[in-house]
Amino acid sequence: MKNYKRYLITSALPYANGPIHIGHLAGVYIPSDIYTRYLRMKGVDVISICGSDEHGVPITLKARKEGVNPQEIVDRYHSLNKKAFEDFGIAFDIYSRTSNKIHFETASDFFRTLYNKGEFIEKSSEQYYDEEAGCFLADRYIVGTCPHCGNENAYGDQCEKCGTSLSPNELINPHSTVSGSKPVLRETLHWYLPLDKYEPWLKKWILEDHKDWKTNVYGQCKSWLDQGLQPRAVSRDLDWGVPVPVEGAKGKVLYVWFDAPIGYISATKELTPDWEKYWKDKDTKLVHFIGKDNIVFHCIIFPAMLNAEGSFILPENVPANEFLNLENDKISTSRNWAVWLHEYLEDFPGKQDVLRYSLCANAPETKDNDFTWKDFQARNNNELVAILGNFVNRTLVLTNNYYNGEVPARGKTDSNDDAALNEIGRIKENVESSIEAYRFREALKEAMNLARLGNKYLADAEPWKVIKTDPERVKTIMNIALQITANLTIVCEPFLPFSMDKLRGWLNFNDLKWSNAGKSDLLETGHSINKPGLLFDKIEDEEITRQIDKLLATKKANESASTKTVPGKEPVNFDDFSKIDIRTATILEAEKVPKTTKLLKLKIDTGLDIRTIVSGIAEYYEPKAIIGKQISIVANLEPRKIKGIESKGMILMAEDKDGKLVMVSPSGKVSNGSMIK
Ligand code: 2FM
Ligand code: ZN
Repeated sequence: MKNYKRYLITSALPYANGPIHIGHLAGVYIPSDIYTRYLRMKGVDVISICGSDEHGVPITLKARKEGVNPQEIVDRYHSLNKKAFEDFGIAFDIYSRTSNKIHFETASDFFRTLYNKGEFIEKSSEQYYDEEAGCFLADRYIVGTCPHCGNENAYGDQCEKCGTSLSPNELINPHSTVSGSKPVLRETLHWYLPLDKYEPWLKKWILEDHKDWKTNVYGQCKSWLDQGLQPRAVSRDLDWGVPVPVEGAKGKVLYVWFDAPIGYISATKELTPDWEKYWKDKDTKLVHFIGKDNIVFHCIIFPAMLNAEGSFILPENVPANEFLNLENDKISTSRNWAVWLHEYLEDFPGKQDVLRYSLCANAPETKDNDFTWKDFQARNNNELVAILGNFVNRTLVLTNNYYNGEVPARGKTDSNDDAALNEIGRIKENVESSIEAYRFREALKEAMNLARLGNKYLADAEPWKVIKTDPERVKTIMNIALQITANLTIVCEPFLPFSMDKLRGWLNFNDLKWSNAGKSDLLETGHSINKPGLLFDKIEDEEITRQIDKLLATKKANESASTKTVPGKEPVNFDDFSKIDIRTATILEAEKVPKTTKLLKLKIDTGLDIRTIVSGIAEYYEPKAIIGKQISIVANLEPRKIKGIESKGMILMAEDKDGKLVMVSPSGKVSNGSMIK
C-alpha cells in the first residue's frame, strides 16, 4: 500500500435549497467526519473540505416557488446548514460556498483551460423553449411522462419514480414548469465533454486499477461503462450559475455538475495559499465522501474533467453510501418525511452523540437501511447507557470512592489482567483497520468492544467485593479499569466527540494521539481525576412516542394532500377518445429487466397478438405472481425502445395514496382483446 504524505477529504457539497437531515448525515458527513478525526489524531497532514452547492435548477425552482431571489434561498440555507454541521461536530476545515468570487474564478479558469485545449465539442441542437416565459427549459424546468415507467411528473434530467436519467427530449407530452405551456423546439449552442473519448481510460482506471472500491460504487461505475458513455453538455441556458467564460455565450452558465465538484478546489484555495500541494502532488490521497446518487459525477465525469485538464490528481477512493430511509419510507424533503438536524437538537438538546452513534451503527454502507425511533432508543438505552456509560461510571465513581480520585498503583497482575491489557491493543488495531477500509459500522462496534471488555473485566474481578478482603488487589483492578477508560477516550473519539471530550475532562486526560491507543499506562499512578457526571442518560418511551406521533401527523397531512383528486383534464371529443385502443389482455410471462430495479418485461396476449410490453412495476409486483393475470392495456401506443427492448403498448395502472401502482383489471373474466369503452 502506498504511503501518502497528506490527505484531502471532500464531502459532497449539499444544495443550499433545504435543511440537512439524518439521511445526509448517515450517508456522507458522519463517515467523512470519523475518517477525518481519525487521521487528525494520527497526526497526518489532512484537510476536510465542504460547502454549499448554490447553483442548479433545484435552487432557482425553490426561489420561484417562494417568489424570492435565488440569492435569498442560498443565503438562508447556507447559514442554517453551516450551523447544523458545526452543532453536530462535523469538523470541516472549511465550509465554503459556490457563490464565492474565488469559485467563479476557479470554475471559469477550469472551463477556459479545457476550451483552449480543444477538449469540448461545440454543438448546436434543438432544445425545448418556453415561448410564454421566454426561456429555454433545462433539467427540472421541464416535466413530462417518463418513457420508461409512465410517471407523468418525470423531470427533464431524471424520473424520480424509476430512477432513470433522462434528457428533456425523451419526455412524452413535455410541458414547462415555469408557465405550464407546451414548449417549442429552438436551436441553441452548447459545450459538450466527450465522455466517450475518455471511456477506454476510465475503464482501465476504474475497472482494472480500482477493484478495491466498494462493491456498490464499482458496480454502478461498471454498469455506466458497460452501457457506453456519450458526450455530455456542460453548459445550460439559465441565468443562475457561473457564466460560460467564452465569446458568444451570453445567457449561458456552466452546468451545476460541472461547477460543483470544482467547488472542492476553490474551497481549498480559500482555505490555504498552499492549496496546490493538496491537489497537484501525487503524494496526496484524495477521498470523496458522497451518497450513491452522486457516484457517476465523482467517479466518471469529474475524473474525466480532471484528466482533460491534466494538472490535478484523481480520487484514490470514493466511499459512497446507499440511502437511509426513515420508518420504512423514503426520506423526502418535499413530503417533510425527515428528521431535520436543527429540529432534533431542539427536542434532544446536548444529545448529538446519540444521533451520531445510532446513524453510524445503522449506516447504509452496503445497502439502503432504515432509521427507526425505536432503534434509536434501543441504541441509546442498551448500548450507550448500559455498556459505555455504565462502565465509565462504575470506574470513575469507584476511583473517587476508594482513592479520593487518585489513580492507584498497579501491582502484580494475574492472567485475567494480562488478557484484558492485551485486548486493548488488539481492539485499537481492529478499529484502525476498519476505519481505513471505510467500514465505519464495524469500526464503531470494535470501539464499543473496549467498553464491553471493561464491563466484563469489572464483573469478573468484582472490586466491590474484593475491597473487603484484599484492598491491595483492588488497586490493580481499578488501575486497569482506568487505563481502559483512558483508551476509550481515544478509540471512541472519532464517533462520539462530545462525550469523549466530557470524559477526558473527568479524567483530566487530554493526550489525544491515536498512537497512544492500545497503551496500558496512559494514566500515571497518583494522577488526579475529577468527579464524573453521567455520560449518557436513558431516553424514555414518551420521548420516542412524541417523535413517532410527529411523523404520523406528517403522514396524515401528506395523505390528505395526495388524496386530493387530480384536477380534471380538458374535454376531448368522442372521435379522439375512440382513437385510443384500450383492451383487455393476459400476462403470459414476466421477468425483471436485467440491471434495472423497476422494470419488468412482460409477454402478453392481447387477443390480437402476443407482444412484449416493458412496464415500471417491478417494485410492486413479483414477476411470478402476475403470470395469468388479466389486465387493461393501451394497445396502439407507438412502440418505444426501453433498455434496448421494444415495448408495444402500455399497461393501465392506478396510483394509490402511497404512490404505489396497482394494475387496472376487469372485475370479471373476459376474453383477451375485449375493447374497453
Ligand atoms: O447531490 C447533491 O446534493 C449535490 N449538490 C452534490 C454536489 S457534490 C460536489 F460535486 F459538489
Ligand atoms: Zn420513470
